Order: sequence, then structure tokens, then C-alpha cells
Amino acid sequence: MIDLRSDTVTRPTDAMRRAMASAEVGDDVYGEDPTVRRLEEEVAALLGKEAALFVPSGTMANQLALALHAQRGEEILVGENAHVLLYESGAAAGTSGVQLTPMPGGGLFDAYTLAPRIRPPAFYYAKQAAVAVENTHNHAGGRVFPQADLVELADLAKLRGLGVHLDGARLWNASVATGLSVATLAAPADTVSVCFSKGLGAPIGSAVAFPASRRDEALRLRRRMGGAMRQAGLLAAAALYALEHHRDDLHADHRRARRLAEGLAEAGFGCDPALVETNIVPFDVDRPAEAFLAEARELGVWLGAIGPERIRAVTHRDLDDDALDAALRALATLARE
Ligand SMILES: Cc1ncc(COP(=O)(O)O)c(C=O)c1O
Repeated sequence: MIDLRSDTVTRPTDAMRRAMASAEVGDDVYGEDPTVRRLEEEVAALLGKEAALFVPSGTMANQLALALHAQRGEEILVGENAHVLLYESGAAAGTSGVQLTPMPGGGLFDAYTLAPRIRPPAFYYAKQAAVAVENTHNHAGGRVFPQADLVELADLAKLRGLGVHLDGARLWNASVATGLSVATLAAPADTVSVCFSKGLGAPIGSAVAFPASRRDEALRLRRRMGGAMRQAGLLAAAALYALEHHRDDLHADHRRARRLAEGLAEAGFGCDPALVETNIVPFDVDRPAEAFLAEARELGVWLGAIGPERIRAVTHRDLDDDALDAALRALATLARE
């Protein structure tokens, strides 16, 4: 099978497994794991933030950050189809009691969209606490959040007393695509989540960054959410290895995604290669997505659905040029005659 469902399907390499096996560890609930500490310091420095915590998943990183921004009954404005809204099992509402309100624009939005949605304080409104953006935007097809828009909307948010959270599960991809450092991309946000388990190829792990003054609260929230781990240095070692050795490889994932998009467009699928900026390739088909997925699977290609007739393919480090060509050849036979 050629697995194009997600960049989360990558397996740790032998070298990464060796780094994990030789990691120095301690009990991280007591704050005694030197490898976790090293990862948290490195991530905070990379993102230009004061502090960071290692957590098991991107979902926990996001939800912890949202809970730092908003109390129960308060509101956070998010882009349409945001991961925190669609794909985190209702955690903001169910776990933290926070109301997420989506804004139009397909996920990417600007200060002009945000401005009229910031309400004056009144007891009958939910108190607005923060704005959350996603870069790259998963559901929008790996689109990069335009940095000028982010700077502008974060300025507006701050002026109106709102915090800013950046879901940077694939901020590494945005950095490679734009040539901007992750610190520059993260600068407008107060809190940032990043994942090591997606394009970077680590098996498990994410981090959430925040101001140092929030560290005690963040530690309490992580514990409450069940994310305080013991000898987690084994996992942090994989993340450190990925940061050091795998970031540049994202260029190859992006190159392959563009090639895939061009091939799909040539074959007759509804796909605009100009909109493929990173490693996610959305495309439209002429039949129900579930039927298409089943047909593709029969031909040895694993894909995901993101709409009634909309499919998603994701390139990743466990996919080479030969696999990509084979996938394209197979998918071309399913194109409109
Ligand atoms: C944009 C974005 N944020 C957060 C997450 C959540 O990460 P996890 O699956 O590790 O909880 C994902 C997962 O794909 C994602 O795409």
C-alpha cells in the first residue's frame, strides 16, 4: 500500500530508534528528565518563546493553550474548519467549557474579518478571550497563513485585549515553504503548539510554548489533562533527533506534493497545483468520496476524504519518488474518462 492519508503515518528510522534507546531519562513528573528538559528549552528557543512543555499530542498542546487563554464560559474566535474546532473531539467545549466561534474564509482570515467580530463588553455576551490561527492550515490543504495578515490581526487582537494562539502542528512546513524562521512565524502569537509526529517523523510528541509567567498553570493543566509523563525522555529524544535531522527533508515532501498536484490536474481531477504550498494536496473527484477511496484502495493507494467529493493526499518522508509515480499512475486510471 502507498499510504497518502497523512504525514502522521511515518515510522521512526533506525537512527532515531538508536537515539531513543540511548536517551538519558528521569521522572519528568518530578521535572527530572534531562532529555525532556533539553527538548523544552530547545523548542522554546526555536520559537522565540520563554517556556515550553512537552506533551503527548498536538490535541493536548492546543487544548492546554486554549485553557491558558480562556476560562469556562468564555469564547475563542477561530478560523473556519480549524483543527481545534473540527478534529479535537469537542475538547474545548467538553473538557474546558470554552466556546469556539468560527469565522468565515476557509480557515485563513485577516484583521478585516476579525474586527467586526470583536464585541464590546456586555454581560449578555460570552467574554471573548483569544483568537486562534492555524499554520499551515490542515483542512485548507496545507495553506500557509499569510504572515502579514497574522501580524495585523494579532496587533488588533492585542489592542482589544485578546490573546493569540497559533496551532503550529505543521509550522515547520510553513517555515520551509516561506523561508521565514519558526520564531518569526510564531512572533505574533502568545502561545504556540508544534508537533514532532507529523512531517518530522517522530513517533509521538508535541510541545506547547507560552510566557514563563504561565508555567505553573501550564504544568497543572498538563497534569489535569493526563499529559504528565514519567521517563518521557525516550520520546523527547526522538523529537530532538527529528528537529536536528529531518527539518530540511520537508523540502522534498513539498516538491513531491507539487508533482502530485500537477499529475492529478493533468489526469483530469479538480486540483489546482498553484494552491499546493506545502505537503497536503486536496482534489475533487466526480463521485462520492467514500466510493473513490475504496477504488483507490483496491489499486493500492490509501487516501483520506475531506468533503463529500473532496479527497486529500499528503506527502511524507516515508514516500519516495517511485511510490509517488506508482500512486499517480494508479489514480490516473480513476480519473474522469
Ligand atoms: C493542524 C493540526 N493541529 C493539531 C493536530 C493534532 O495533533 P495530534 O493528532 O497529535 O493530536 C493535527 C493533527 O493532524 C493537525 O493537523
